[in-house]
Amino acid sequence: MALNVLLLGSGAREHALAWKLAQSPDLAKLWAAPGNPGIAEYGETVTHVAANDLDAVVRLAQRIRADLVIVGPEDPLAAGVVDRLTAEGIPTFGPTAAAAEIESSKSFAKQLMADVGIATARAHAFDDPDEAKRDIRESGHGVVVKADGLAAGKGVTVCDTLEQAETAIDAAMLGGAFGAAGRRVVIEERMYGPETSAHAFTDGVTVRHMPFSCDHKPIFDGNLGPNTGGMGVYSPPGWLDDATAEGIRSEVTERAIRALADAGRPYRGVLFPGMMLTEGGPKVVEFNARFGDPETEALMPKLRSDLLAICDAVAHGRLAEAPVEWDDTATVGVMMASGGYPGPYETGKPIEGLDAVDDDVRVFFAGVKRGPSGRLVTAGGRVLCVVARGDTIADAREQAYDNVRRIRFEGAYYRTDIGAAAEHALPVPPVSS
Ligand code: AMP
Ligand code: GLY
Repeated sequence: MALNVLLLGSGAREHALAWKLAQSPDLAKLWAAPGNPGIAEYGETVTHVAANDLDAVVRLAQRIRADLVIVGPEDPLAAGVVDRLTAEGIPTFGPTAAAAEIESSKSFAKQLMADVGIATARAHAFDDPDEAKRDIRESGHGVVVKADGLAAGKGVTVCDTLEQAETAIDAAMLGGAFGAAGRRVVIEERMYGPETSAHAFTDGVTVRHMPFSCDHKPIFDGNLGPNTGGMGVYSPPGWLDDATAEGIRSEVTERAIRALADAGRPYRGVLFPGMMLTEGGPKVVEFNARFGDPETEALMPKLRSDLLAICDAVAHGRLAEAPVEWDDTATVGVMMASGGYPGPYETGKPIEGLDAVDDDVRVFFAGVKRGPSGRLVTAGGRVLCVVARGDTIADAREQAYDNVRRIRFEGAYYRTDIGAAAEHALPVPPVSS
């Protein structure tokens, strides 16, 4: 088998996937659109094709005679890239638009969960801002305001006060903060507890679970400040016991995959439920129809099996035949960001020290490009993710930070507590009445 593979996306998640795909003996050539300079080390990047320009993606896949397309981000999935490529006879790793609605429509996901008894926060969808506000005034408990559609991870406001909730509703529904995605909002009961990400490969029938991992969304140490695209990650969470883990796998992930098949929306690709461990048991925060970012950066270094063989098997409905094995080491990934992120920040800062990084440490590029002189410069809010592996989280964490300190760019910012709560979850704030 010698496969031409097209990978869609340009972030650290896709860099981690490219690094792993490149280890496959079955890879003929890796292409990426638009890719990044890290991915370019493993193949050819077509920088002028955006992952969500479906016409251009289909043309590119045909031109390079792709044997397999692997989709990283959620936007092209929601727009139907898998449907388009499949119609052209091109095997694709990822769910159809109908199946991806489990991520792209929060109201669809909520209904599916209600139908098959998957535990999640109580929620109501509203098309009218006044009704939404009436609901939060009457409900009396803490609320979370969510844009119904995709909002690049920024459509969620966890509210401490009624005023905050009203402002969030106005911003989404009247201010157009999230475009069409926010015309409908979902008002959700606020949950409390530590969070963990469950990931599984599935071809719609066979399910192969990945290790659990944990993102760090807020910008500051101690989980303070506004949410970001993810400031770091570790895997596995030592605080997650086996029975709870098994319960999430069977009663959330597998149940959702069966429910989607039963609803005539068979799911292929990676399903990633974001979970919160509340006093009332594990509950779904959201479903994602793709690999997590930065979760993937911490998962790929632990995958013993051939990622290309797995993705190809998923695309052809033959996952049962592909080995999916993980080593049980610990990984910690620290995201280095541009100063100011998630607010305004400057780009184009030269990145130094990458050649001083240990051989067994991976640096996955999130927002990096080549400047005019060919030097690597910063090109985004989140710049790069430094991932180390160890026998314990403490070992991995120490090596990750030791390497982070060797990488320099003007204004570099990173959290100093990634993985610090891996054995004992951060204290859970008291439940407000
Ligand atoms: P999402 O974009 O849906 O992943 O939400 C971003 C973050 O908001 C999650 O990782 C949680 O930390 C938080 N969040 C979302 N929904 C809730 C909820 N119902 N209660 C408490 N926190 C939530
Ligand atoms: N790390 C959360 C996400 O990828 O949505």
